[in-house]
Amino acid sequence: SVPQIKRLLVHSHNLKQVSLPWLEPHGSLGQKKMQRLRLPSQSLFNKTIALLFSKRSTRTRLSAETGATLLGGRALFLGQDDIQLGVNESPRDTARVIGGMCQGIFARVGEHEEIEELAKYSPVPVLNALSSLWHPTQILADLLTLHENAHLFAAVEAEASTENDKAASGRPKQGPTLPDLRPLTVAYVGDSANVLHDMLVTYPRLGHQLRVASPDQYRAPAEVWKRVEELGCDKGIWWGNDPKEAVQGADVVVTDTWISMGQEAEKEDRLKAFTGYQVTEELCREGGANPDWKFLHCLPRKPHEVDDEVFYGPRSLVFPEADNRKWTIMAAFDLLFGKWDISAEGSAA
Ligand code: CP
Ligand code: NVA
Repeated sequence: SVPQIKRLLVHSHNLKQVSLPWLEPHGSLGQKKMQRLRLPSQSLFNKTIALLFSKRSTRTRLSAETGATLLGGRALFLGQDDIQLGVNESPRDTARVIGGMCQGIFARVGEHEEIEELAKYSPVPVLNALSSLWHPTQILADLLTLHENAHLFAAVEAEASTENDKAASGRPKQGPTLPDLRPLTVAYVGDSANVLHDMLVTYPRLGHQLRVASPDQYRAPAEVWKRVEELGCDKGIWWGNDPKEAVQGADVVVTDTWISMGQEAEKEDRLKAFTGYQVTEELCREGGANPDWKFLHCLPRKPHEVDDEVFYGPRSLVFPEADNRKWTIMAAFDLLFGKWDISAEGSAA
């Protein structure tokens, strides 16, 4: 829900402020300063979170492992060659056994049904680390990055929400707060895959407009549109197949890989279908993007999706975005696995 999303963003920002000083190189903080530092929540003390990953990962795995450590617990990586799942054992039995020993499951799966099955039978909460349909923790990191860089998007409108001050506790908070973000036009140029799908069900509800260009044959599947409509997000979405039209007025331009994990056999067809979709200065100038547009990509990135000038240039927020995977996943672990105080409703979506 929108309040849960806002709460997670505020919590991520606060955990980041509290945790960063602890990560200074050893000895760089004076003794007095160390004594004054607050520890991040230790809600995972003595707890283990199972990372049930059937696909590769750099950012999500690193975020989960380093984040769990900061919360006082540990993450236990279980790759597809490590355990019996999928070869000798069902998701149902695996979920029951892991849930008897661990306090949460963070799962990266192939087909989305696999995570639904785990969530159905697990006695502990299950959080989606990426499935064929959704990648919810990625969108939290993207939103945190946009909020933290709100100053790059001109003035905040007077009516912009101040809910983040109150979101965590119901009363105004002391200390650093998450900057408000004005309503943005966000263009997505690329494949209709898990990252875009979560943008479709999230950004319009937070007041942002989405403009999407994707080849017709890769249009989001029916179950994603069903969810988009149920949540009333369809009114905030423009959809077409022309990248130039999509970037019109864009404050932010986003893309993802054209060949998601598991689609390697389709590489040749996909490279053809995405001709003209590379994000470049020229594309965005000709399409009429906001001259100050910024760039996001979940990573890993291939140069055919976005050229080096944009990717490594001053518009690019991709590395702060990657860093923010850690704080947002850590906030989700703290609330969902450590404190059990955020509704598990939709936890697998
Ligand atoms: N963005 C993302 O999920 O990256 P990894 O696949 O490296 O975890
Ligand atoms: N759409 C990509 C996202 C990787 C983080 C994939 O599923 O491979």
